[in-house]
Amino acid sequence: MSTRDPVVRRFSDLDALSRAAADELAGLARAAVAERGACSIALSGGSTPRRLFQLLAARGRDALPWERIDLWWGDERTVPPEHADSNYRMAREALIEPLSLAATRVHRIAGELADPAAAAAAYERALVDALGAPPVLDVVLLGMGPDGHTASLFPGSPGLDETRRWVIANPVTSPLVHGTTTRITLTAPAINAARCVRFLVAGADKAAALAQVLAGPRDPTRYPSQLVAPDSGDLRWFVDDAAAATLAPPGTPA
Ligand code: 6PG
Repeated sequence: MSTRDPVVRRFSDLDALSRAAADELAGLARAAVAERGACSIALSGGSTPRRLFQLLAARGRDALPWERIDLWWGDERTVPPEHADSNYRMAREALIEPLSLAATRVHRIAGELADPAAAAAAYERALVDALGAPPVLDVVLLGMGPDGHTASLFPGSPGLDETRRWVIANPVTSPLVHGTTTRITLTAPAINAARCVRFLVAGADKAAALAQVLAGPRDPTRYPSQLVAPDSGDLRWFVDDAAAATLAPPGTPA
């Protein structure tokens, strides 16, 4: 299954989407722990997952087998962990600290390192040491930008063509990052090695790109989210009505 015949679940708004995503994540984590004794989840960054993290925290430690869950990240900005733009910081405040999750189970990307390539290499080593090569994450959570980027795989960026590495330092030029920066990100091969991938996409500003990604011509250089096609085939999109506004209504023949 690829982005060509996607499973798209629609919700009225971000709150409803986040509650369903919390249920989904709980189910996936329990199944992974039952089957393999542990669960590895790569968290997405940006603003969309914050509500999901808050809901998971509000449900308390018993809602998921947290003592058996390892948290990783799909990408990180090249900033220190206490910086306002840090994806780690957002998850720390909304999920990790409220649930007092064990630091030994939290594997953040060292965005503060002066050399982003060294940070990418260190994170790749940690992933491969823990999950093998390719590193098989149980769940990869992804967001999508208004330009169709996902993780930090931005349109036209060199990282889109990566076929060997699992983590790279990707130079990004985009108004979304206010010019040019370097992001540390899982590559498409790493994302596609995951047992399952879940996109969380909300807001009217995502509608045009979402329609292109899901129903437009294949053009991953312009819409990198089209690169996401897990080998397992387990890919689902959780979208709100605003983001799905220009998608064909559910049940419309392809
Ligand atoms: C990041 C993310 C990125 C994000 C999208 C959507 O570090 O920014 O990982 O891929 O998911 O940009 O961001 P919002 O959720 O803020 O719209």
